[in-house]
Amino acid sequence: MPRVIILSRHASAAPIEIDAPEGGALVDLCDARLAPIPFSCRSANCGACRVEILEGADALCAPEAEERAILALFASPPTHRLACSAKVKPGLVTLRLRAIAGIADAEDEAKRASSTVTTNHDD
Ligand code: FES
Repeated sequence: MPRVIILSRHASAAPIEIDAPEGGALVDLCDARLAPIPFSCRSANCGACRVEILEGADALCAPEAEERAILALFASPPTHRLACSAKVKPGLVTLRLRAIAGIADAEDEAKRASSTVTTNHDD
């Protein structure tokens, strides 16, 4: 059964384990268990929800164009994904991940990314 394990950025916090037999949108799985992922726009526009995939990257569907664009904006390595956009495939896998930034850090980065995107659109 697919299991998503979300590690906290704080070593003392227990990981959150989510059984996901049918896979599905990672954002929905995180919401269902109040996972410590800092969501903001929820639509691949800000980068606040970037996560590092520590195990099971193959359990995720390939990123779509919008997700790839935001990850490129942050010069993200291939192990990073957007939790608001990534979809978990059904199957026998374990997916282990953790947020790149804390809530406050992510909000600051999202504002910077947003202003960068706005600047690019004004060109
Ligand atoms: S919450 Fe903004 S990109 Fe995911």
